[in-house]
This record gives sequence, C-alpha cells and structure tokens, in this order.
Amino acid sequence: MNMIGLPLDRTDGLLKVTGEARYAAEFPAARLAHAVLVTSTVPSGSIASIDSARMQSMPGVILVMTYQNAMKLPNGGRPPLAPPAGRHLSLLQDNQVHYSNEPVAVVVAETLEQATDAARQLRITYQSAPATLDFARAKSTAHAPDKPQGRQTDTLRGDIAAGLASGTTRIDAVYTTPMEHHNPMEPHAVLAMWDGPKLTLYDTTQGVSGAKTAVSKTFGIEADNVHVISPFVGGGFGCKGSSWSHVTLCAMAAKQTGRPVRLALERPQMFGPVGGRPMTEQHFVIAARGDGTLTGMRHDTYSNTSVIEDWTETCAMVTRMLYAVPNQSTTHRLVPLNVGTPTFMRAPGEATGSFALESAMDELAWALKMDPVALRLKNYAEVDPQDNKPGASKGLREGVRVGAEKFGWSRRTPAPRSMRDGNTLIGLGMATATYPANRSAASAIARILPDGTATVASGTQDIGTGTYTVMTQVAADAMGFSPDAIRFALGDSSLPQAPVSGGSQSVASVSPAVRDAATQVRARLVAMALADPASPVHGATPDEVTVENGWVISMKDASRRDPAGAILARAGGQPIEARASVKPGDEKQKFSFHSFGAVFAEVHVDADLGMIRVARITSVYGVGRLLNAKTANSQLMGGIVWGIGAALEEKTDLDTRHGRFVNANLAEYHVPVNADIGAIDISFIDEVDPHINSLGAKGIGEIGITGVSAAIANAVFHATGVRVRDLPITLDKVFMGSTQA
Ligand code: MOS
Repeated sequence: MNMIGLPLDRTDGLLKVTGEARYAAEFPAARLAHAVLVTSTVPSGSIASIDSARMQSMPGVILVMTYQNAMKLPNGGRPPLAPPAGRHLSLLQDNQVHYSNEPVAVVVAETLEQATDAARQLRITYQSAPATLDFARAKSTAHAPDKPQGRQTDTLRGDIAAGLASGTTRIDAVYTTPMEHHNPMEPHAVLAMWDGPKLTLYDTTQGVSGAKTAVSKTFGIEADNVHVISPFVGGGFGCKGSSWSHVTLCAMAAKQTGRPVRLALERPQMFGPVGGRPMTEQHFVIAARGDGTLTGMRHDTYSNTSVIEDWTETCAMVTRMLYAVPNQSTTHRLVPLNVGTPTFMRAPGEATGSFALESAMDELAWALKMDPVALRLKNYAEVDPQDNKPGASKGLREGVRVGAEKFGWSRRTPAPRSMRDGNTLIGLGMATATYPANRSAASAIARILPDGTATVASGTQDIGTGTYTVMTQVAADAMGFSPDAIRFALGDSSLPQAPVSGGSQSVASVSPAVRDAATQVRARLVAMALADPASPVHGATPDEVTVENGWVISMKDASRRDPAGAILARAGGQPIEARASVKPGDEKQKFSFHSFGAVFAEVHVDADLGMIRVARITSVYGVGRLLNAKTANSQLMGGIVWGIGAALEEKTDLDTRHGRFVNANLAEYHVPVNADIGAIDISFIDEVDPHINSLGAKGIGEIGITGVSAAIANAVFHATGVRVRDLPITLDKVFMGSTQA
C-alpha cells in the first residue's frame, strides 16, 4: 500500500471553496415551489383551529397542508420500521401535539418569501394538555428501555454489593449533562419531485439507502420508486442519520401540489423536530483499595426521551468496557418528556458517559492521593471486561504513555491550585477517549473507462469527513491508478448499497468494498493486456507485471508497458468493471473492537473571575491504519473542538413552563469559535487492526469528542479545587464553587 495514509488534499476541496459543490437546497427544478414548515407552540395537546382558508388567498400561496387536508398515509403514518431506522414522525395525520416545535403545517408558495409570510401569519389555536417537562420530577416514573441501540439495558458482573463494600476509598457522585442540539452549518433541507409513481429526493442525509427505505415504506410504495441523491452534506453528526418528518412532509406537499417542492429547515427548527442529545443524569459509586485497585463500580444513568418514542443515550457502554473492575452494575433508564425525540449526536453515549466515568476516576485518584494516569494504568483492561474478549488492537497504554510525555504531564504538581502564573490558575487534567470500532456490509463498483480514467462508486456518503478523498485513495492504491485519474461517486441510492455514515463506520465498512472492487477490475485489466498479442506486456504472467499510474508494466523490463486506455481501445473501447460486496465475518465473536485515545488538557482559569480558557489539548489515538493523515487529523480536531464546546459552552435551555427551547439560535446556543480554541496537538499510535477489515482501519468520526469534557473538568478541578459535575462548566459554577470552598 503506497497511497494509503498519504495526507492528500480533499478531492472535493476546490468544488467546496468555489461554491460549486451543490447541497440539497441548491438543486434547481422547473416549476419549483417553496415550502415552509410551521411548528407547534405548545408542548402538549391538540390543534383546536387553523385559519388556513385565509392563507389560501394570500399572494403566491399554493397549499396550506395541515392535518385537515394532508394526504392519508398507510397505517396512519406510523413508522413502518422499528426506531431508530424508522422514527415516530409528525406527518399531519391527526391533530395531536406531543412537543413544542413539532411540525403542524406546511405552507407551499411560489416563492420562499411568500411561503414564509403566509407561514408567519398562519394562526393556529391549541387545546393544551398537561405536559411533562421537569426531568427531576419525572425521573420517578422512569422506565427501562428495551435493548437500547441493540445493547443490553442493564449489566451486572461479579458481586456489586461485596465489591463496593470491599474498597477502602469510595466515590459517590452524580454527574449531569444538558440537552444539546445539532447545529451543522447546513440545516436539514430536501427537494422532492414526483414523476408518476417515482419520487426523487435531493436530501441532506447521512444515509441515502436508509432514507430511501424509510420514505418508501412510509408512503407504502416500492423502494425502487424512491431515488435519494445527496452528493454533499454540510455536516451531519447523527441528526441526518434518520429521515425526520420534514422529508416525508415535503414529498407529500410535492404530491399534493403536483410541483417539485423544496423545504429547508430554519435554524430554530433544528431544535426539536430533528433530534438532539438528551439530558443525562449519571450516578457513580466507585470503590477501590488503597493501591488504586478498583473493587466495585456502579453506574446508574437516566436520560430523557420524548413521549412518542424511546431513544436512549447509552451512557454506560464505556463504563462496561474500559476498566478491569470485577464487580460492576450499570443501568439505563428513560424519562419521557414533551420534547422532540432525541437521537444520535456525535459519540452518543460515549461522549456523555466518558464525562461521568472519567470525572469520577479523577475524583477517585485525588481521594487516593494517586496520580490519575497511574490509577488508570493500575486498572487497565487487557481484555474487554464485559465479554472477556481480547481487543483486536488496543493502543491505549501506548497512547497514555506518549500523550503524557508530549503533554509534559510530569510537570504537574498534584494538589489543586498548586500551579499558577500570576493571577492565572493553571490546571492539568486527563481522560480516556474511546469509541466502538463498528463495521457493516457494504458494496462498491469500480469501472475503467476507455479514456484510461476510472470511476469508482458506492452508495455511501461524505458528511464532511473526507469520504470522497479517502475512497479515491483506497481505489487508486488497489488499482495502481493516480488519484487524479479516478472519479469517486457517492451519495446516490442507485449506487451499490453502503451503510449509514454513522457510528464511525464508513471507513471500516466501505473501504474494503472499494478495495475489493478496485482489485478485481485491476486484475481484469491486467488479464486483458496479457492475453492481447498486440500488448507490449503480452505473454507475461500476472505476477510479472504491476500497474502504476494506469499503465500495466513489466517488472522485468519497464520499457514493456501498456496504458489502460490503449488496452481497452484494442478490445473494442468498452469500459470494464467489477463489483464487490463485503461484510464482516465472525471476528466480532472473537475480538472486542474499539478505538482508544488519551486526552490531556491544560486550562487557565482567572483566579478572580473564574473565566476558563482551554490553553491546549494533547491527544494520542489508536484508530487502526490511517487512510489519510490530513483528513484524520481534521476529523479528530473537529471532535476535540466539539468536546471543548460540550465542556464549556453547549446547552439547550428548556423552559419547563411552556416546553420551548429558549436559545434555539446560534446567538444564544453557544458553540466554539476560533477564539475559544487554543493549541490542539493530535497524534496517532502506529497501529493496524489485523482483524477488522482488509485495510486494518478503525473509525475516527466520533472518538474525538470523547474524554475531552472530562479532561477539561479534571483540569478545572486541578486549577481551582472546584469539582464541577454538571456540564457545561461555566464560570458561575467555578466562581460559586470557589466561594463556597
Ligand atoms: Mo454518528 S452520532 O453515529 O452520526
């Protein structure tokens, strides 16, 4: 492999910076009509009246679609697939309201301005019903979800009571994380058009084939009558992994108007109808002996869901696998609230769970007067403690060692408030990062064209991560072509099927399919050349030739060489192609697959004002073979930046009287800007996972955010002596904590 790992620039970079890359809301259509989504203003109840008749006479208005006139869907529009593949959507099939900001109408007009005007003036009155909005109070009615994300709801190993009793030092603490909402630069958007029975959707999605399945089943039409196209996605971090109400509503509006219809969500509509991270409350009890050996660990977690669907933030997954603790119990409980259904949001479960676990471990280290790094190594899990399987690759020990050295951990003096520079309190903290290394079945096609170039395609997605680029590299490497001679296509449900770009699985799933298809088509090209008496390489055996830059070359005599274009031309000028479908084998039965990392953070806290700056982060990751050092670095940096945001800034504020999110905009929902970010130093353990796939590559999409908020919380404690257990760590919490201390 000589292309794999190179820091190639993004193949789609030029298209993006010049504005040529076309996103869902930018596709043109003849006779395009514009839709605006109208959402509820009460969190519970039913629609009492809608003055849609008046709207119909407003300029340009084509349709005001409400529960009164919306087309009837099979089975009342209930999800034909089990959640989360099929969501419980709001498709105007009845007048019920389950949360504030729930879709209740769609206004379609000739122009976006006319649709917006009519939508703003549409008066809807509601019959309100009591709403459940107070998490703390509703907790008493929490229920156990059924197999969240296909995993066990609760786990128990060893004897938890005896384990907790046998420790001499004990931590008993509750950690909370807030609701957060996805704010990719590109909000959800879709363009729907019907041609007879056929529906085309230009959608911004993390899964074209999942969208095709969900929408076709919702309409009760043949799957192959739905074509989903999504060449560019302006960020998708889990929210675009499901097809939400607006997609089907847009298709319904297109059907009812007989026009192509475009519907783009407004920024405030990102808060509720399209998922988000639920709030969590996590209770840890940890016991250890004086030497740091863990004897017992209990992790009880609560997260909110909606009243229409169970969705679980699986906070305890990381607790189950990270440390070699013999006695452990973990639980997940759900608290339904009258809010939109939560969903996957970058490292769902691991981002929030690692905050609680790695904060608690830091608290334990301090209670034991033990170095936090030493405590973690003391309880290092050589095998996955939950299922006793060995890790297929585990660079964590090495990551901790390298990270500590690069970061300068040895300069840390253990006591809180012991490091300062004038009025600045300096804190150093660390935490573990981890995320499962997932893989699913995927397929691809590789085709060499008569002009000597190639197209390679898979129905995967590039959600900003670099899929176009790394798959081009994988194909170029396997085929012996220059990356410049390969055009990679994706984001189209008519291409060979690939999984949702979620769960950090695209590279691990799709690259072996691309590699397989590319290897096969290369073999066909070589065979054609060798069999052709007119070829300069005629008569050689396949292992006597190589393919470089699209030329089949004799390894004995490099002057004997034949370019792909000539080989195909002599054979009649037809393209040659190969398809591959690959899927995981039984390796998951034998090995535990995870990516790991160690995160070190230095914070600076103003001693008087409590203002926190993250001066620097040093992270070292073991993520298997890197396919592209540059996109990998960018991916992890994005995750770390988000981790800083989660630690210090992000929170959706729910008004528990009215069920409104009061900061549903980018002015008041704070995400990091460049000025918030200090130095970020990312490096990798040289690691190839021998079992996960033919490339040895694990995923890197989500691990970057994990561990970061704990490392920062731990650093803030070290700087100030104030332990903040509820995110985000805002200066008031540090300030109040220090005045109480
Ligand atoms: Mo990721 S939260 O599985 O898109």
